[in-house]
Amino acid sequence: MQTAIATALQQAAATDFLPLQGTDYVEFYVGNAKQAAHFYMSAFGFQALAYAGPETGIRDKVSYVVRQHKLTFVLTTPLRANNPVADHVYRHGDGVKVLALRVENAADAWHQTTSRGGKSYLEPVTLTDTNGEVVLSGIHTYGETVHLFVERKNYKGSFMPGFRPWSNPYFAPADTGLLYVDHCVGNVGWNQMNPWVKFYEDVMGFKNILTFDDHDISTEYSALMSKVMSNGNGYVKFPINEPAEGKKKSQVEEYLEFYNGEGVQHVALATNDIVHTVTELRNRGIEFLQVPKTYYDDLLERVGQIDEDIVPLRELGILVDRDEEGYLLQLFTKPVQDRPTLFFEIIQRKGAKSFGKGNFKALFEAIEREQEQRGNL
Ligand code: FE2
Repeated sequence: MQTAIATALQQAAATDFLPLQGTDYVEFYVGNAKQAAHFYMSAFGFQALAYAGPETGIRDKVSYVVRQHKLTFVLTTPLRANNPVADHVYRHGDGVKVLALRVENAADAWHQTTSRGGKSYLEPVTLTDTNGEVVLSGIHTYGETVHLFVERKNYKGSFMPGFRPWSNPYFAPADTGLLYVDHCVGNVGWNQMNPWVKFYEDVMGFKNILTFDDHDISTEYSALMSKVMSNGNGYVKFPINEPAEGKKKSQVEEYLEFYNGEGVQHVALATNDIVHTVTELRNRGIEFLQVPKTYYDDLLERVGQIDEDIVPLRELGILVDRDEEGYLLQLFTKPVQDRPTLFFEIIQRKGAKSFGKGNFKALFEAIEREQEQRGNL
């Protein structure tokens, strides 16, 4: 029997006016890009790739590009006050500004989305250098976050025009097995989930493939609701969360307060060997949410047989969930900056196309213990 997710994906594919080839890059606006780039390289195992700044003719900001397999992160910081990057960092702290999506035709992507009500962020522009050309365009999404459409089929360089190659022969930490962006979650305000679901349906042709209500995602104290939006080929998935009424402040409300508005809550990074990846990340100082050890007592009864040995899963705190198509292993980091805002998920899928519903309660109780320590519950 066909699953609900497969049916929704087929519907999205049948009417797909915005063919996406996947995530091209994620750009973070940060307070200190030089140090942030070092963090993603040393702790997460990214490699240095490209640089733009005063030396390449950019006067008011600096960007470092790092890459690991199909994952590309851009870390951008302002050099002066009173520019859009500085204002963004002032309001939100470090956070995701751009979710860039690879397309065959960036001008067409802009026309398709803006003609359906998308608000333009960047009209189609062609950037050229000796390696060829990249066409960019973009639209706004929730908060101050934007989607850029990136057409790079006629480009042979390492990143894009305006950047120069960047490397450090004395510093090349081994990768940690992180492969690509699995999904990217947005936190939006009260009663704003459905309007943004409609935005992704109407403007970008996405379909709602999964819905979690406040009964699915609640603990004793707090709740949230979530709908997962996917494009037609399933390469790009954007769950949208909104807070729900509970006895205490939900984690989404804490995010909205400290991010000073709507924005990206977490980016899920895929691996083919989560035990190796999480071992490496932990050894390099990345902190993860901890669920109680009792989580593992009846794990195999809940999820059935799995290929992995349970001992390292318990030691590393890796969670497991099963759906009708297979299972997945996942784990959340603590926030990666001082504000309790953006964090990462590490995920390994073994057939499952869902998001770990069976782990929500244990994970959200772990988040609440952290919230409590911050005095924000
Ligand atoms: Fe996730």
